[in-house]
Amino acid sequence: MMLSRLFVIGLLISIYGVLSQRTIVRSVSLGEDAFIVKRETNVLPKNNKEVERHDDVIELNIGGQKMTTLRSTLTAVPKSKLSLMFQKENAKKMLSLDKQGVAFFDYNPLYFSYLLDQLREIKRMSDQSIHNLQISAPYMSSHVNFTHMLIDLGLTPDYFLSPTEGTHLNLTIDSLAGWKECYRSTYNTPFDLSVLTSSCNGSRLLVGCRLATNKKRLTLAAIGEREDIFHPCLPKQCKVNGKFKKRNRTLTCSSRHQCITQAKRGVGWYHVPHQTWGFVRGSLSFAVNPCDVSNLDADYRLCWSTQENIQQGFGDRCGSAKNLQNSNKWERLIYYIK
Ligand SMILES: *[C@@H]1O[C@H](CO)[C@@H](O)[C@H](O)[C@H]1NC(C)=O
Ligand SMILES: *[C@@H]1O[C@H](CO)[C@@H](O)[C@H](O)[C@H]1NC(C)=O
Ligand SMILES: *[C@@H]1O[C@H](CO)[C@@H](O)[C@H](O)[C@H]1NC(C)=O
Ligand SMILES: *[C@@H]1O[C@H](CO)[C@@H](O)[C@H](O)[C@H]1NC(C)=O
Repeated sequence: MMLSRLFVIGLLISIYGVLSQRTIVRSVSLGEDAFIVKRETNVLPKNNKEVERHDDVIELNIGGQKMTTLRSTLTAVPKSKLSLMFQKENAKKMLSLDKQGVAFFDYNPLYFSYLLDQLREIKRMSDQSIHNLQISAPYMSSHVNFTHMLIDLGLTPDYFLSPTEGTHLNLTIDSLAGWKECYRSTYNTPFDLSVLTSSCNGSRLLVGCRLATNKKRLTLAAIGEREDIFHPCLPKQCKVNGKFKKRNRTLTCSSRHQCITQAKRGVGWYHVPHQTWGFVRGSLSFAVNPCDVSNLDADYRLCWSTQENIQQGFGDRCGSAKNLQNSNKWERLIYYIK
């Protein structure tokens, strides 16, 4: 009895398997997912969804030469453009197909197959090592054309770089793919904003802070265009003694003054010359002297007194850790991308 029941279930599963394979084949002939040409045979039907997303066999036309690989190879570098192209939902808008409906790439087949070999290796790496990704050209003279291909396919760190926007808590240093450290100091040493024009001369900056004893993580970090960070929009109005006033050139910010940032891409950068520099999450108000003591959204606030103000300034903070101006246990860090 038991055995025959198992047999029936087994039969049902295999029928389901055959049916679902038929369904896939039909959808290919309808051109819904034209670049899937065959499926692995050792696939259990119940895993169909998973398998379709990651392990389809994919045929490619590389400059006229047919190549076949697994979807998981093409998606080996998460967030790369190549990987996005081979996520199903993006296929139609991101891929060019040839007359047979096969994904077409106009590259030297030799370079592409060399790239595929490296992607097969990368696929086997842990996430962590992906962040130190090195994809190399087959030989010296191919370097330039190979690099153009990598740029097209979004396989250069600036493309799949993580993170790219906004404010972050507990950001692991290992996840900072492509970012280069350009500044580090403890909170008890003066901060000179001129590092932004000297060592941190990149198009984008990541500004963060951390406990010196926890080198693996930034407690808080925010990312922005260097120009937005260095020359943020000045607050248009500030609250003085509880009333909003238009900010004017001679306004000296004090603990009675709260100014509102104008956020750029989710980060409210501020810079009050000779006083403070920092950010809040979004467009929120901040006090200037002492250096942003607010408890509102405290984890997402960073404030550094600038060098000229080190004597008067208090309240330097890293998220909800405040009054760090004499602390050598907390570090300021800046990273950049060219
Ligand atoms: C690189 O590409 C250019 C332009 O397509 C071509 O003329 C040149 O021969 C290529 N170089 C190599 C080494 O493939
Ligand atoms: C960050 O880490 C701290 C300490 O490990 C933890 O208390 C906090 O909940 C974490 N925050 C987030 C957003 O992960
Ligand atoms: C870096 O600084 C130089 C001059 O010092 C400037 O010409 C260049 O535009 C800067 N680059 C960036 C990305 O800011
Ligand atoms: C401009 O700032 C000065 C100095 O704080 C203040 O006395 C004056 O009232 C301000 N003017 C306006 C229009 O807010």
